[in-house]
Amino acid sequence: MSVKETIKSVEAYVGERFPVEKMNYASMVQKKEVPVHGLSWGYYIGGLALFLFIVQILTGLMLLFYYQPTVSDAHASVEYITEHVPGGALVRNIHSWASSMMIASVMIHLLTTFAMKAFARPREITWITGVALLGVTFMFGFTGYLLPWHQIAVNATKIGLQTIEELGQYLPGELATWPRAIKETIQGEASVGQATLSRFFALHVIILPLAIAATLGIHLISVQLHGMCQGVDEPPKRKEKFFPTFFLKDLKVWGVAFLVLFILGLCVPFESFFAYPLFSPFDPKGSTPEGIKPEWYFFWVYYPLELLPFWVIMLGQAALGAVLVATPWIFQNTNRPAMRLLAVAAGIYLLVMTLFGENIYHLFKG
Ligand code: HEM
Repeated sequence: MSVKETIKSVEAYVGERFPVEKMNYASMVQKKEVPVHGLSWGYYIGGLALFLFIVQILTGLMLLFYYQPTVSDAHASVEYITEHVPGGALVRNIHSWASSMMIASVMIHLLTTFAMKAFARPREITWITGVALLGVTFMFGFTGYLLPWHQIAVNATKIGLQTIEELGQYLPGELATWPRAIKETIQGEASVGQATLSRFFALHVIILPLAIAATLGIHLISVQLHGMCQGVDEPPKRKEKFFPTFFLKDLKVWGVAFLVLFILGLCVPFESFFAYPLFSPFDPKGSTPEGIKPEWYFFWVYYPLELLPFWVIMLGQAALGAVLVATPWIFQNTNRPAMRLLAVAAGIYLLVMTLFGENIYHLFKG
């Protein structure tokens, strides 16, 4: 193939995936329609994740007025927000609940778009940016967990960083030194301390928000350029206007989500799920307390990691990452009933590990 032909085919490939000629109000809003069928509820989940992201930005900005990112003051500043700032406990609690709800909705969104085969040509860019958004969302959770600087925060972060370093044992040659270098770069000093807190803070409040804003921008523009996917194998008999019909329904879902968040934020302290000593300030001279574990959204990998050899889980993770990125090509000829079956199986695994991971662990390890 000549250079000219190569450039032309690249142009055609990108043009089909990112049709700039459709970048106008008429195509992206006025003409957009949403298919109506049994799986239509799945079209609301991305919007729900978007709403929760907006809640996180707003409550996060409010917390920034009082939070102090230093080892000496972080824990006290969080206690001050909870006990002395008017509305502080509510804002902090909503930020915690919404982070869990955002992660849950992003996971469900991945499964529903997978089941509907919404990644199929020409929506590969929507899918790939989605996979990046999933990674960034998990990173928000991981970096945010350390900021209150209590026992569970620091000790769980140490375990997380240690896991990265252990990867080195299974890599060949020069590659074996990379995980340790990555861990040291994130940690910033010999042990988890001020440099780590500063780095996690910078990641959580500046770098990750910028990364998610850019990726989300491309994700949402490509959703609007292509319109909603058909979602089912038989062309749906009915469609409804995106604007205003579907958009108003989207807003109703956001309203219900806000109500649930507000009631939870007011009545159920997020921290009530853990024993109090885990929330005492981190003591560098103290021993690691009982009950340290990551947030619930890491249980699907954490409990298998406790039960099976490290390399098996890491290999599984690498394979899962590769399959997710290559999904539009691996499953291009798979029919939707088979995709739904795979999505349901993955959903059941996630649910069982999240709810019963600890029981399964005790069943095998006593
Ligand atoms: C911060 C996280 C995310 C946000 C805020 C978000 C937002 C959205 C929104 C608002 C839509 C349009 C409505 C809908 O179809 O639900 C959408 C569509 C889509 N998203 Fe996401 N998304 C996120 C993460 C992901 C992830 C993790 C994936 C999968 C790997 C993904 C894949 C898709 C696909 C393929 C579509 C197109 C659906 C269609 O054409 O019917 N997204 N996203």
